[in-house]
Amino acid sequence: MVVLDRATGFTALANGVAIADGSASEEIIALRDNVIRVRIVPNGTLPENASWAVLPDALRSHVNVKPESSTTSFGFRTAALDIEIDKSTLQLTVRDLSGKIVQQDALPARFEGTSFRVFKSMPLDEHYFGLGDKTGPLDRREEAFSLWNTDAYRFEESTDPIYKSIPFFMIYQAGIASGIFLDNTWRTSFDFGKEIPGIYSFGAVNGPLNYYILYGPSPKQVVETYAWLTGRPPLPPMWSFGYQQSRYTYTPQARVLEVAQRLRDDHIPADAIYLDIGFQEKNRPFTVDTKAFPDFSGMIAKLKAQNFHVVAITDLHIAKLSDQNYFPYDSGMAGDHFVKNPDGSVYTGVVWPGPSVFPDFTQQQTRAWWGTLYGNFHKLGIEGFWNDMNEPSIFKTPTHTMPLDVVHRIDESGFTQRTATHAEIHNVYGMENSRATFEGLRTLDPNLRPFVLTRATYPGGQRYAATWTGDNSSSWNHLRMTTFMLKNLGLSGFAFSGADVGGFAGTPSADLLTKWLEIAAFQPIDRDHTEAGTGDQEPWVGGPAQEAIRRRFIEERYRLMPFLYTLAEEASRTGLPMIRPLFFEYPNAAPDRHPIDIDNPASGEFLLGHDLLIAPSPYPDQTDSYTIEFPSADWYDYWTGEKVRNPGPPDPGPSPALPASAQVQLSIPVVPTLANLPVFVRAGSILPIAPLVESTNQIPQGPLSLRVYAGDDCNGSVYQDDGRTYAYKDGAYLRINFTCQIASDGFHLRAGPQEGTYPPWWKEIRIEIYGWTPSANTASLNGKPIQSTASPIDHGFAITIPARSESFDLQLR
Ligand code: NOJ
Repeated sequence: MVVLDRATGFTALANGVAIADGSASEEIIALRDNVIRVRIVPNGTLPENASWAVLPDALRSHVNVKPESSTTSFGFRTAALDIEIDKSTLQLTVRDLSGKIVQQDALPARFEGTSFRVFKSMPLDEHYFGLGDKTGPLDRREEAFSLWNTDAYRFEESTDPIYKSIPFFMIYQAGIASGIFLDNTWRTSFDFGKEIPGIYSFGAVNGPLNYYILYGPSPKQVVETYAWLTGRPPLPPMWSFGYQQSRYTYTPQARVLEVAQRLRDDHIPADAIYLDIGFQEKNRPFTVDTKAFPDFSGMIAKLKAQNFHVVAITDLHIAKLSDQNYFPYDSGMAGDHFVKNPDGSVYTGVVWPGPSVFPDFTQQQTRAWWGTLYGNFHKLGIEGFWNDMNEPSIFKTPTHTMPLDVVHRIDESGFTQRTATHAEIHNVYGMENSRATFEGLRTLDPNLRPFVLTRATYPGGQRYAATWTGDNSSSWNHLRMTTFMLKNLGLSGFAFSGADVGGFAGTPSADLLTKWLEIAAFQPIDRDHTEAGTGDQEPWVGGPAQEAIRRRFIEERYRLMPFLYTLAEEASRTGLPMIRPLFFEYPNAAPDRHPIDIDNPASGEFLLGHDLLIAPSPYPDQTDSYTIEFPSADWYDYWTGEKVRNPGPPDPGPSPALPASAQVQLSIPVVPTLANLPVFVRAGSILPIAPLVESTNQIPQGPLSLRVYAGDDCNGSVYQDDGRTYAYKDGAYLRINFTCQIASDGFHLRAGPQEGTYPPWWKEIRIEIYGWTPSANTASLNGKPIQSTASPIDHGFAITIPARSESFDLQLR
């Protein structure tokens, strides 16, 4: 075992410090003032400076630092952080400029054989989030995880590892956030005080000790910085935010058309319908079962005419079929695109199609070849592609994946061309599969935004695909877990994510499906999906009363589409997630600044963007009343427009009241009902809402509504574009920022000038104002009186004015 704790030399670098410790070397450098990179090798020199995750510009970036040394320590200072290394123990301490410790080594880094481990102190009030959609509680404290992409069919709350490996987590203490990203593609592990109380640690079985410290201090800054390092998710087509209908597997063709028709007949808004593996000939990727789908192209055209977007599964395993005119196999063999056994033969594993071979996605030319396989489907008008089983999942083997000694060839800029074992590549394999799909689709049509859905991924994977949480179950507990999983995915760079609505394994009760559809209507990807052999799970299943509730929620999602899409665009520009934990926006919600999401009452709650609070029961199956905790004092009921009022000091009830340190400013008791989902709007929000459509292909008819909820910091915006191409990058978009103010001269709604050249679909804007009452019934626009006045609506007033592209100030008295 090698323990680094006896430095023999320190060298100040322009951007950090280099340390020698016998044959070991360590380098701590600043990429930015708030991003520090730590690399240690037990023997020899630092390995190649290459990464599958970190963007090339970020990898090369550096800032100059101010070296600092004392008799006992060595270090440097950036404009945000103070880095100190103890000369005798090599303990690293990171402080902010006020002297507060952000992170501190608890023990020296340890190397054993090929593996290593880093240990950090774990203060009592520190909490940990991220690591993708790992199961268990939202807070990773006192939990331990292994990161190894695994097909975890029917995973449970304690299952680990599952599909993705995102070795990034956020550290949060009393409102101050930082992050650690361990960029290591081998099997890694994270332990938050489970093994050694008071210490959190992380390590890998092999590969570089190479991690990044990201400093906030706000949680938002940490996520934005992580996006700077590993990339932002590209803006997907607008239709992918519509309701998506899936199952394993709609077949034959008539059934696909029947489901689509029923959605339209029942007026359930929907945008996507999925083709799972059963549409293929004997489960062979890139084929069509022409017996079950006799007019496949006609079917796609018909669905398109009904305003549906088809998403087809394209698993990565290629059926091993020589001399059978199976193009993916023949062309893949001809191009030498499959991974190999150590003896040089092509590796074969059994998956859905039987014996299969596996593309070597770590090679640029293999990814390019893979992309060409989409040509036919693309020509037919299939718009979305689903990359499943890409951990990779392999049947009939105890490990459920490839042998670790399977050989990949790395041909990737930044890396030396070399071979690598599957043990090194496993965790990036799924990401490189989704990358090949995304880049291939971009090559086929450079102007069309691809929609790719992947199951397995690694940091950086957000640049290529949206993701879902894999094979969950139709249980109330899975519905509860979904919120934790999606919140943590959002903190881990994946802004566009969803869980199988209704649950994959098993058949949901009618009530469970209804509640799930209600909650999912406010989550980024809203896809109903279930396993083969389960009962039907479409919105009408369970009878008209259930269907009516479900329709109402899906309709609400479509009314909110301008808001959702505006959030999606923000995510693509900043990396900020759509679904957010409460502490993300409200670090000061509790007097002691702990994240209130970890309190039982608020544990079922989540934010959609900055302004919407969705508050299902923490135990969604229970009919008992529960308490909604609000992260700040002023909120409105989304459904009624009524201001939420504190019901007074809570009845302490049979259980002791919460300590004062934990109490939030506003909380209300609610009795859950099947037909309702509590949703609230931050006072000070301006929400853009559209008239109802049944597909995002339809142009909303009528005014854009701006729902204005009077309050401090009153603002909102609307973003639009054509929803499908990259024309927005050349200016064909529309953005209008709004603010509101209540002053002595009345209420003002101010709109900035329209940014971009995209024409709005609305000719009028209807402004609904909640939380304000006119005293005189007059209105003026840019200082000039106008005819229309605000008329009363439930809990508010509304006025409609013509749309305009110039800025305006609407004043009401
Ligand atoms: C496993 C996926 O997780 C699931 O969503 C899909 O339906 C099946 N594979 C069949 O393709």
